[in-house]
Amino acid sequence: MSESLTVQRIRPTPPSTIVIFGASGDLAQRKLLPALYNLLDCGGGAMPQNSAILGFARTQMSREQFRETARSAADKYSRLKIKDDCWRAFADQLDYLSGLDAPDGFQRLRKHLEETEKTRGLPPNRIYYLSIPPSAINDCVARLADVGLIAAPQAPHFTRVVVEKPIGHDLSSALSINATLRRHLAESQIFRIDHYLGKETVQNLMVLRFANSIFERLWGNRNVDHVQITVSESEGVGSRAGYYDHSGALRDMVQNHILQLLTMLTMEAPVSLDAASIRDSKINVLRAIRPVRAEESRSMTVRGRYGAGVVDGKPVPAYLDEKGVARDSRTETYVALKILIDNWRWSGVPFYVRTGKRLPKRASSIIVRFKDVPKILFNRESQLAPNRLTIRIQPDEGFEFDILSKQPGLDVAIRPVRMNLSYATEFSGQTSPDAYERLLIDIMDGDHTLFPSEEYVQKSWQLVQGILNAWAEDGAPPIEEYPAGSWGPAGADALITEPGRSWREP
Ligand code: BG6
Repeated sequence: MSESLTVQRIRPTPPSTIVIFGASGDLAQRKLLPALYNLLDCGGGAMPQNSAILGFARTQMSREQFRETARSAADKYSRLKIKDDCWRAFADQLDYLSGLDAPDGFQRLRKHLEETEKTRGLPPNRIYYLSIPPSAINDCVARLADVGLIAAPQAPHFTRVVVEKPIGHDLSSALSINATLRRHLAESQIFRIDHYLGKETVQNLMVLRFANSIFERLWGNRNVDHVQITVSESEGVGSRAGYYDHSGALRDMVQNHILQLLTMLTMEAPVSLDAASIRDSKINVLRAIRPVRAEESRSMTVRGRYGAGVVDGKPVPAYLDEKGVARDSRTETYVALKILIDNWRWSGVPFYVRTGKRLPKRASSIIVRFKDVPKILFNRESQLAPNRLTIRIQPDEGFEFDILSKQPGLDVAIRPVRMNLSYATEFSGQTSPDAYERLLIDIMDGDHTLFPSEEYVQKSWQLVQGILNAWAEDGAPPIEEYPAGSWGPAGADALITEPGRSWREP
């Protein structure tokens, strides 16, 4: 095989200070700090060594304590094994300030930043990573602006603000967050995170589609029968009930991650690889998705909630018995949808998507099921198995192509065979960076390609809000209970109405 071709190379990023708002929280500890450590990786990583990372949160903690909690989190969650000497170099960049909720907290932040930059000889390039609840974003951005911590977009040094999903709780709160961001910042200064876009296999969707000549010719209603997207989790709500019970699977997974997978899979080829072109292509898909009408909510949507059951051989409680979940909760932990895209390429091809907690395993995949060959020759007497392309997003990343082959022998016997590419075997020795590593380095570099735009967020919420509204009407689908460890409620099977088609294991 020939050598790889590098189309875009990671550039050295300018030194900056990254302020993590909510640094004592779960996301910072499990994802952001380990990702930053990996990016530094003893100077062998992509991040400049002379940067600073400032944790800013409500919790009272000394700098030393922050470094210690960061170390235990990194030991537990880092992709690379932590080496003591590299950790010392990394820890040297870590600093902490409490007072996120104090009346003069932001003034103190400003003073602290100026001192840090002075003592470390850093330019005032600042990245504010808002790892805080969506309801706190508006206030936080306004306070940053009030104390003069947001530089103009054309200033010689950059200010970038990173907001985590979920951006809003519904359409109106998403619009309000976007309006606040727009009031104080230019779009070039805003980075909206959907960590699925940082996953190696999700980025590879574009390469698969547009670097190979065979797939694009097949990609559309002439050849594709239907598509299934499954994002399945074996975990339950865990310690996040406080957030999740007000969110649910539709808001938590479909509004962002699943629609991202869908738009990457179905968009037209962008005119170039720049962020604006890719964003335009994706938004055009959202524009073409048929909104769910209230009277169709039962035939287009299914919602479920896990009951008690067994996952990985262990008994687990029902959602309603989880700590922090309201006894009369109406939150769905599973959702399945039939999505139709009314454009030239995809008209008539159903996209079945489903996601849920407490399903049998953690596995995400996209399955493209191609149309049958005509009912002549080999397909005349009995139904042949269809061709399928399976894109395994995680874990065991890779592709599978199911095709048919003659079984060796004197008879003409036809058998399904599988062509399989597994990242682990093909790219052995090269571990994929964590999604947050990819996204953090792009923020430092100012590259928006993997970040949803304001319009994307608005359009995706419009679609989801349509479903939420339909669910609030009489005649909405019931919340069906499914046993933990099963593939979801029975209603999901009825969503796929074409004869001979059914959900496939991801
Ligand atoms: C998060 C959701 O965005 O994605 C979680 O809030 C979910 O509920 C998680 O568990 C799944 O991410 P991943 O990368 O583990 O598939």
